[in-house]
Amino acid sequence: MSALFDVLTAHPFFFRRPVPDSSHQAGVAAGAQGFSVRPIPQPSGTQTRLGVEVVGLDLSRPLGPDDFARLQQAHLDHSVVVYRNQRITPAEQIAFSRRFGPLQRHVLRNFQLADHDEILIVSNIIENGQPVGLGDAGAYWHSDLSYKPQPAMGSLLHAQELPDVGGDTLFADQVAAYEALPYTLKQQLVGLLAEHSYLLKYEALRERNAFRPALSAAQVAEVKPAVHPVVRTDPQTGRKSLFVSEHFTTRILGLPEGRSAALLAELFAHSTQPQFVYRHHWRDRDLVFWDNRAVLHLATGVPAGQRRKLYRTTIEGDVPV
Ligand code: OGA
Ligand code: MN
Repeated sequence: MSALFDVLTAHPFFFRRPVPDSSHQAGVAAGAQGFSVRPIPQPSGTQTRLGVEVVGLDLSRPLGPDDFARLQQAHLDHSVVVYRNQRITPAEQIAFSRRFGPLQRHVLRNFQLADHDEILIVSNIIENGQPVGLGDAGAYWHSDLSYKPQPAMGSLLHAQELPDVGGDTLFADQVAAYEALPYTLKQQLVGLLAEHSYLLKYEALRERNAFRPALSAAQVAEVKPAVHPVVRTDPQTGRKSLFVSEHFTTRILGLPEGRSAALLAELFAHSTQPQFVYRHHWRDRDLVFWDNRAVLHLATGVPAGQRRKLYRTTIEGDVPV
């Protein structure tokens, strides 16, 4: 094939369909693990670039440098990467997460794992009248920690206990959502900044969930609102993505209140349409790693009586530009 073809296909965004990866059986470098990265078929028949599964990799064993480079590439290309069947300890989850950057600690200290405060327990389980974790994480579409000056680059959620039914997590591609905006709307968004606040939905969540604790003055001070571009650009790839969400984005700066609210409502509705969404149905010991710069996510919830517990690590990202 022509040199042009080679150049195009080498570009990570040219062939956006997840391409079945060779499992690197032949010529595996010393220390490397022969794993494959492949698309996850969607029952709905729709397919986005999000959602590839890594099969045949054991994160409790050392990774070769080539292995890590392949994983990083899969992250950049697909934004939601599912590591199947990981029998890893909290310490191993922390160690793997740290390879991608420094970890962030959640403001709700009471839901951190004992001896591992880098892990936030996400769970609806109540033991002895006390919640074992944060039960309603992800009740609204959001990007983790977008209310911080340096929001989370990525989050990793490791399944500990899964319900028989329900509990799926939805991910919406904010690169595709941005690209699909009408040209005139893209023009309107140039240079706009929005405020993000942890407190926006906090009281609404507390009304629905008796186990959500009141915040202390110190906690409120820790989550002062942050201001970020409405459209952010990944400095590494040049990709633009929408960076607003119903959970945390309060207003667009410099617009009259009504105009700001209307524009945000339009963007929220646009950004989470089904054609941008990958629905993750959890399997035992899945470790799911998503890129908060490029996707929004939402917990679909579990029926009463169903138990669900996952461990989350959160990787600090750059100041969005
Ligand atoms: C989170 C989150 C969604 C879920 O842990 O950050 O939003 O489905 N979780 O548990
Ligand atoms: Mn979340």
